[in-house]
Amino acid sequence: MLVKLYDGREIPVEMYKIRMLQKIELKPLSRRLKAIEEAGYNTFLLKTEDIFLDMLTDSGVNAMSDKQFAGFITTDDAYAGSMTFYDLKSTVKEVLGYEYVLPVHQGRAAEHLISKVFIKPGQFVITNYHFTTTKAHIEITGGGTCLELYIDEALNTKSTYPFKGNLDLDKVKNAIKKYGKEKIAYIRMEATTNLLGGQPFSMQNFKEVRKLCDEYGILLVLDGSLISENAYFIKKREKGYENKSVAEILKELCSIPDIFYMSARKNTCVRGGLIATNNETLFKKMEEWLPVYEGFFTYGGMSMREIGAMVVGMREMVDESVAGCAIEQIKYFVEKLDSLGIPVVTPPGGLACHLDAMKFLPHVPQSEYPAGALAAALYIVSGIRSMERGTISMDRDKDGNEVFSDLELTRIALPRRVYTLSHIEYAIDRIKWLYEHRNLIKGLKFVSEPPVLRFFLGRLSPIDEWGKKLAEEFRKDYGEY
Ligand code: F0G
Repeated sequence: MLVKLYDGREIPVEMYKIRMLQKIELKPLSRRLKAIEEAGYNTFLLKTEDIFLDMLTDSGVNAMSDKQFAGFITTDDAYAGSMTFYDLKSTVKEVLGYEYVLPVHQGRAAEHLISKVFIKPGQFVITNYHFTTTKAHIEITGGGTCLELYIDEALNTKSTYPFKGNLDLDKVKNAIKKYGKEKIAYIRMEATTNLLGGQPFSMQNFKEVRKLCDEYGILLVLDGSLISENAYFIKKREKGYENKSVAEILKELCSIPDIFYMSARKNTCVRGGLIATNNETLFKKMEEWLPVYEGFFTYGGMSMREIGAMVVGMREMVDESVAGCAIEQIKYFVEKLDSLGIPVVTPPGGLACHLDAMKFLPHVPQSEYPAGALAAALYIVSGIRSMERGTISMDRDKDGNEVFSDLELTRIALPRRVYTLSHIEYAIDRIKWLYEHRNLIKGLKFVSEPPVLRFFLGRLSPIDEWGKKLAEEFRKDYGEY
């Protein structure tokens, strides 16, 4: 929660106390350099024993509350018919407003089912922006193509526009005219747009998208993996919503699409996912396939314990101090870096502080993966693990050509209720040092490169061994730590 200090500053005060903890360790610089070399300069391949602050993602690493742990234990283990599933069903009805629920083992499992059932080969899925696993399922499972029809402002990394996740309605109309409505499998809105820097869409835009879908008879799908964050942004940024609760806004958002799905690894818990709808016909089409890919409809690939924790997490996610927890920390982080002249994505988004690697490292061409190089450099100087969200996160096209990403972002994620303000201050200091020494960072080249989702397992090496030179310079100012 934002609290005003006597000197006028506002700081995000942690609305939790730490009752169970995990020891973390800052390894010396010499070990960090060795560790990133062993990991092929890919932060995914680091081991957590070498990591100080794990800011790779907010997926599956959020802190669970005491009540969630209680939910973990007081579950009803059964292959079929578990009462914990019925708790989930009534919680989904209460919080999201949906009658029908299909539990799945995580977000991409929902994407798999939806792509399988609703995309015919050759069709398009219109979206405000793709996510890596979404695109893979649209293309591989569905045989379709992603059409990203975001507003022009979306790619402006230095912006004050509050809703960069909006869909551009004129572009949508043109696409429908060009391809024909029968060629559009569905429109997918992502709340908030992960790869654009966690940027939300507005309620007004979403309602206009709904109107368009009704006009043309097109299905509307909502990826609500960060739905409570999107709702929090609407409360903070959209006229007319300032006095509504996050719970009310979230329910209003959920009343708009035909199908809702989410990764529950983010804002409700540490694992899982679900699909929900109020349309029985659509539900039945997906339900038929659930046992083939996920399991019986009362567990869907999750353990009942995970569902138990998710039930509690779903109620907690609409609490403003939870929905806004990462957002306010990210805002503090981004605004401080921005005030130091360091290129970050603005306005602050709902998932991470994103460094704009093309501006941070203008001397590194996209073909040498600036966002990946910056993630590796940040690890060397701080022990902080971030994630490349740029060209490495795009796969090559069918002919093996590189597909350059619209943005080259190094994502420093803030899992919910895990890190404190002093961790963020430490990160800011090391990023400032890195920015002043940015000329030492060069690009990367692939040593081994998987064909699909290559960012997970690809191995790279630093051009001209820049990692060693960066470490030598760091040692002069800070020693080993
Ligand atoms: N949709 C969005 C918007 C996501 O951010 C993610 C995952 C998924 C779908 C897939 O869900 O991981 O449960 O299978 N995002 C994670 C991240 C991986 O690090 O941003 P999943």
